[in-house]
Amino acid sequence: MINFAARDRKMLNGKWQVIIDPFGTGDGKQVWLEKMPVAKTEFTEFSFNGGSLLNVPGDFNSQLPELGYYEGVVWCKKQFRQIKKQGERYFLYFGAVNYTADVFFNGIKLGSHEGGFTPFQFEITDLLKGSENTIIVRTDNRRIKNGLPGSGFDWFNYGGITRDVAIITTEQLFIKDYFIQLKKGSTDTVCAWVKLDGKESNVEIKLSIPEINFSCKLRTDDMGYAVSEFKAGLKLWSPKNPKRYKVLIEQGEEKIIDTIGFRNIEVKGTDVLLNGEKIFLKAVNIHEENPLKKRRCMNESDALLLLTAAKELGCNMVRLVHYPHNEKTIKMAEEMGIMVWSEIPVYQHINFSDSSVSGKIQTMMSEMVARDKNHCAVIVWGLSNETYPGTLNRNATLARITNECKKLDSTRLIVHVANTQDYSNNMFNVWDSIYNYSDLIAVNEYIGWYIPWQGSPMQTRWEIKFPAKPVFISEFGGEALSGYTKTKAKTVSVWTEEYQEEIYENQIRMFENIPGLCGLSPWILFDYKSPVRLNQQFQRGYNRKGLLSENGIKKMAWSVIRNYYRRK
Ligand code: GCU
Repeated sequence: MINFAARDRKMLNGKWQVIIDPFGTGDGKQVWLEKMPVAKTEFTEFSFNGGSLLNVPGDFNSQLPELGYYEGVVWCKKQFRQIKKQGERYFLYFGAVNYTADVFFNGIKLGSHEGGFTPFQFEITDLLKGSENTIIVRTDNRRIKNGLPGSGFDWFNYGGITRDVAIITTEQLFIKDYFIQLKKGSTDTVCAWVKLDGKESNVEIKLSIPEINFSCKLRTDDMGYAVSEFKAGLKLWSPKNPKRYKVLIEQGEEKIIDTIGFRNIEVKGTDVLLNGEKIFLKAVNIHEENPLKKRRCMNESDALLLLTAAKELGCNMVRLVHYPHNEKTIKMAEEMGIMVWSEIPVYQHINFSDSSVSGKIQTMMSEMVARDKNHCAVIVWGLSNETYPGTLNRNATLARITNECKKLDSTRLIVHVANTQDYSNNMFNVWDSIYNYSDLIAVNEYIGWYIPWQGSPMQTRWEIKFPAKPVFISEFGGEALSGYTKTKAKTVSVWTEEYQEEIYENQIRMFENIPGLCGLSPWILFDYKSPVRLNQQFQRGYNRKGLLSENGIKKMAWSVIRNYYRRK
């Protein structure tokens, strides 16, 4: 079900008991049955009692020193009491668990979920006891070859129960899902559908927007699905005016309240239009990490820290990389008037020839769209980043996923990011056929860092082998250790702030030449933890491409972008 925050919830956040199980021994011991020794001579070689406690939500790596770089199984246990009422239903909901979760309830396996960044739930109505109930979750953040992401990626692999957990109570028949947004290309026609959990036909659903005195009645078909299209005089959401409306969806006794903005986003030739007007996307890449607390983000104050820094940089958009971030961040961006690019971790080394991978991509994409489709701040679905053209099934799989995504939501831009362009004789040649399925030509390029300039940035030319589509520089930049300047280095060398600043100044010179440039997104807002960054003098487990250090200190390059966005 969507709109978790509007549901009747019993939060199960707080202290959870854990067993750290590096060898996965607990599977054989059936930890979830919590067998107790009976006879005097009997004993068990596992127990939660006497063990560590971890905060949920919260990644486990930042909570216990012995879990610093841990990748493996951690069993998590929580007990709770719930009054069970006739006619009510109960669901156990997880905001996210990285990477796999096997969930047991009162000793019974409810099911599993794969993917660290999207919500899932299980119905527990029949298993719920009036007395003490026990949840045991086998969390496992080990990287797997046919996973999403695969076994190699450039961010910290925070594991565990990283987002909210709750028991949701519903009526027997309840509103499971709905989509209420402006019709594609329209500024006054709203398309709405509502789906009940249950194939009840002819159920009356009331949809209302009190602020504009609007309400209408819909009736479900025999699939429990109701559709409507109506005209409404709405103020449109935009970064300048992030207007949202209270929307009520009612059936029987049930009333779901949501806060929804209405806006139209589309591409026309090489322009991106928001509410029919050309807009330049002033973005920045953000990983879901609280740099000051050195942990996975999990609450509103984490979101506020990141989004405030993006606003201060002059952004009207954030690219949330490379996985769906917490819904709290999306909602806050919407309130603050910041557009959002949301993405699934189809990242670099994806094993497209493994038959299970395409299904995993489909599931993760559907879960991302389902959760955030009513959040108007989200204007882009990013479906892949830097996958390799030579990989078997890559294009076919991504083309199919693009169509599936369009079926679920035709109102947003759908984008694939590549870094496959050739750069020779100071000229870019953008050719990757993945762009045939992408609404933007989204290019990652690190000229001046991984690849030296081959001439003056002012003369760098771009050859783009695609019919007019907007070009978006989705990543660019270079590394610098905050405070390491030419004074210390005695020259403007790599890792100095001045070197990074120069990269940005040159990039901006080059941007003038890019035909159809609709926006850009520096890599990255804050330095962030990455286990693949091993230069002990300058990186020490950090990707140092931040415009801000992990302590929030602005590097010289920060002002280059700040001033550029001011001019734009
Ligand atoms: C890539 C990739 C990022 C990575 C960055 C880098 O383009 O998309 O995830 O962190 O480059 O090399 O720093």
